[in-house]
Amino acid sequence: MSKIYIETYGCQMNFADSEIIASLMNEAGHEMTTEIEQADYVLINTCAIRDNAEQRIRKRLRELRAMQQRHAGLRIGILGCMAERLQSQLMVEEENVSFVVGPDAYRRLPAMLEQVRQQGVKAAETELSTTETYDDIEPVRLNSNGISAYISIMRGCQNYCAYCVVPYTRGRERSRNPHTIVTEAQHLFEMGYKEVTLLGQNVNSYCWAQDDENVDFPELMRWVAEISPLLRVRFATSHPKDLSDKLLEVMAAHSNICRCIHLPVQSGSDRMLKLMNRHYDSAWYLDRIAAIRRYLPDCSITTDVIAGFCSETEEEHQMTLDMFRKVRYDYAYMFKFSLRPNTYAEKHLQDDIPEAEKTRRLEEIIALQGQIALENNKKEVGKTFEVLVEGESHRSKKQLFGRNSQNKVIVFDREDVQPGQYVQVTVTDCTAATLIGRLKQ
Ligand code: 5AD
Ligand code: SF4
Repeated sequence: MSKIYIETYGCQMNFADSEIIASLMNEAGHEMTTEIEQADYVLINTCAIRDNAEQRIRKRLRELRAMQQRHAGLRIGILGCMAERLQSQLMVEEENVSFVVGPDAYRRLPAMLEQVRQQGVKAAETELSTTETYDDIEPVRLNSNGISAYISIMRGCQNYCAYCVVPYTRGRERSRNPHTIVTEAQHLFEMGYKEVTLLGQNVNSYCWAQDDENVDFPELMRWVAEISPLLRVRFATSHPKDLSDKLLEVMAAHSNICRCIHLPVQSGSDRMLKLMNRHYDSAWYLDRIAAIRRYLPDCSITTDVIAGFCSETEEEHQMTLDMFRKVRYDYAYMFKFSLRPNTYAEKHLQDDIPEAEKTRRLEEIIALQGQIALENNKKEVGKTFEVLVEGESHRSKKQLFGRNSQNKVIVFDREDVQPGQYVQVTVTDCTAATLIGRLKQ
């Protein structure tokens, strides 16, 4: 039996995968530890989305070298998207790495650990699968608050956005058996969890068609939402091209499906969207926003955006700012374009916007979004929301924080409330990132 420490970088899918890995490790008789100093194996679940994500992992590997000098038996494995992208080449570049395992090969991990330990050799498993969904594996909840959990419902992506490495690191799209998803959610609810987030690279193309059974994403959402009105259901991420009215209807009919949609826009310019291979234009995107507002007037909308994609002009950048002014997002993840090996952009386009110009455009988007978020939050002052309490506020033990259905964080004086409870909170003040409130008497 060995002690395993796992460190996770990147998106929610990666965090969900680490919980599957922990389960596979426990099943094989290993023990997970939260103390890196006690570990025999350090597993690093990595991200490859932008160059700086990979640089962060390289830096971490240099830090771990010192630890390996103190603890000769300590072995390091690289998992996830960077493992898939670089494969065994990574063990040549980083001498202190003993094994490399891609996202579809985690079942092979226990056998690989044996091989590495007994034979002292290095090993790589990076084959992608068209069917693996790990649907029979009950994840071990890591760093859990016992209130909110992720459930992975599909894997992979085949949209091939021109900038994106994910189709190459996570393989073809495949959906998990819906019955195992509902069982997992039901089980979490019975254990006291109050919120599940259904995860996939593109959740609205979820599609289960087997044994005369056809289940699409709206149908799956209905099944999970009907487990209990006390179980909140969230989902991420949606692609604008597939956001259907049917999904919005199901959301409107179930108040426990949270009023928050993450809809990455990437750019406000039609020429950029075409070059990015996004399969929608700005008019389509705005039509989907209008549909959300029609079905779910109190829904918050969040996005991802890329500044300085190949050949983006100043005018096209301004179109992105205009899109932000039109939609008025509640939150945005904002990035500078990073050219990734093997993508369409790398093969066929020029990464021709100078770094300083990318930075300037990104900063303009960030400044505008900060203003909009603050204005949006100011409109919430005076309203009362149902809040699922998650824990103590980072600032003061006398305060708790939780989220409303719109996924906004609300801080309030605790009184005798406990994490895991639903409470009514009236908003009294705000910043761009947080609502401040008091318990409704
Ligand atoms: N450069 C910058 N941002 C990227 N994203 C994906 N690939 C890149 C890239 N090469 C962003 C997109 C995506 C989010 C997860 O990361 O906005 O929606
Ligand atoms: Fe990073 Fe994308 Fe892989 Fe998630 S799927 S870990 S964001 S590269």
